[in-house]
Amino acid sequence: MQQQVDALRSEALELIASAHDAASLEAARLKYLGKSGAITALSEGMRNVPKEERPVIGKLLNDLRAAVTAALEDSQKRLLEAADLAAFASLDLSLPGTFPSPGTLHPLTQLMDRAVRCFRRMGFAIADGPDIETEWHCFDALNTPPDHPARNEQDTFYLPDGRLLRSHTSSVQIRVMETTPPPVRIIAPGSAYRRDEVDATHLAQFTQMEGLYVAEKVSLADLKGTLEFFFRELFGAGTDIQFRPHFFPFTEPSYEIDIRTEALGGEWMELAGCGMVDPAVFEAICERRGDRIYDPEKVSGFAFGFGLERLAMNLSRIPDIRMLVENDLRFLKQF
Ligand code: PHE
Repeated sequence: MQQQVDALRSEALELIASAHDAASLEAARLKYLGKSGAITALSEGMRNVPKEERPVIGKLLNDLRAAVTAALEDSQKRLLEAADLAAFASLDLSLPGTFPSPGTLHPLTQLMDRAVRCFRRMGFAIADGPDIETEWHCFDALNTPPDHPARNEQDTFYLPDGRLLRSHTSSVQIRVMETTPPPVRIIAPGSAYRRDEVDATHLAQFTQMEGLYVAEKVSLADLKGTLEFFFRELFGAGTDIQFRPHFFPFTEPSYEIDIRTEALGGEWMELAGCGMVDPAVFEAICERRGDRIYDPEKVSGFAFGFGLERLAMNLSRIPDIRMLVENDLRFLKQF
């Protein structure tokens, strides 16, 4: 019996040690410990063993079973470790991981922040108004007659109820003076809408920054000083600036502002509209408010407005305005 057990043990341990995958290990387990396995069969033979020999034989069989079970567990561990190693073999754990790349502010937002910071240093506060406007705020109060081309349905988006998507941010001038006594010194960045064919220089929705300064004795010199300071902050101290006479219904006199800098090719670029607030605008405000605190005999002011997309395109040499709304990361990452 002893010899039989020893032979079985060495045969089983050898087979288990040589098992190279889970299936051959399971086959070995069944061969010795399964229902009809060799060790199971031996244990069943205990019935025929004389009573006095049972303790000795029983111990032999228990030891055999324990040794085979331990060998099976060892082999299983060995196989799992080998599988892990194989899975990690092609991985270099010393390589850096992949990180989500941090976003940046949109170039227009960056430019708007710069512009706002500059005007705030000169004492301008930020004002706001609705994108959906009344005709009165967008046109009538701004001295724009009913037959003015800007009021045409071809140029402006009208809603069925007669309101419209503001075609410029100048409506915020009116909103501010309606509710705030002078002196007022505000800038109003925001969207404007026009029924333009979208192309390399036009969007149907774009961004403007409006400015308004009304107080006693505000002069054209204040207007020029303020805007020259602003544009030289943006484009550099050596920038040439010219105020070219123009017409806007709500300012008198009115100008367009052109900028020229060697760094950007030395060509004049038309960048903004501006002028001294027309007395007719102050009269419209007085009528609406029912008081005379905006009496054009007592206060004066200047207003200006420019398109931020146009400014960004000139500052950063962006060839097509649509790039600013396409959200192509290859473009946006350059800012
Ligand atoms: N609202 C004008 C435009 O959109 C710009 C402007 C603003 C001109 C204020 C004069 C004063 O073209």
